Amino acid sequence: MGEKFIITIDGPGGAGKSTIGKILAKKLDYVYLDTGALYRALAYKALKEKILIDDPASLATLCRHTEVVLKNNRGHLNVYVDGEDVERKIRTEEVGLAASKISTFPVVREKLLDLQRQAGIQGGIIAEGRDMGSVVFPGADYKFYLDASVEERTRRRHQELLQKNSVAEYESIKKDMQARDRQDSQREIAPLKAPEGSVMIDSDHLSIEEVVEKIISTISIK
Ligand code: DC
Repeated sequence: MGEKFIITIDGPGGAGKSTIGKILAKKLDYVYLDTGALYRALAYKALKEKILIDDPASLATLCRHTEVVLKNNRGHLNVYVDGEDVERKIRTEEVGLAASKISTFPVVREKLLDLQRQAGIQGGIIAEGRDMGSVVFPGADYKFYLDASVEERTRRRHQELLQKNSVAEYESIKKDMQARDRQDSQREIAPLKAPEGSVMIDSDHLSIEEVVEKIISTISIK
């Protein structure tokens, strides 16, 4: 595989996109772009500065006064906000829900669009999110839509939190997951959906290795 493709993975939260994306990027020697981290980074700053996250004018001001940069850290494109590496601070449920909220506003999506496209301009990228194959990279070489039932995604998130010794309650994780699914797929711009021409993978009964294998074999066959 000498060519440097653009490979997109879209799907709902908790479907395994980041785990799979990181493994694929390593295997193929590609860079890995987690676009959810960009929305989370802006949401993190909004929460920190107590900006109204459902007010377009406040979000426009936030976007105007925030510098968001991606830096390649051994194949992983890390997000910096106003010079600060925020990777560790953006992984909470609170930031995730706020990211989902602010991502419904055009001003936020426009701010992050170019940055994402620039990252993929030379190919050799695994980009994951909600609108990778539909809006950001409609001409991607390979598009995947990774799905799993809400029960399975909740179970995985629950396990993950328990392993970190965090307080985790299955039913409340499931409720947050459903709220986020609704918000991400019912918004007007760039809603979560399987992009045209994408390969659908339902990971409910597949291991991480099996999903990676499916993707690699699709890429090699074409
Ligand atoms: O994948 P994640 O949970 O880190 O994403 C956080 C939120 O960011 C998600 O609920 C919706 C938004 N998002 C988006 O609108 N478009 C993307 N390409 C990626 C994430």
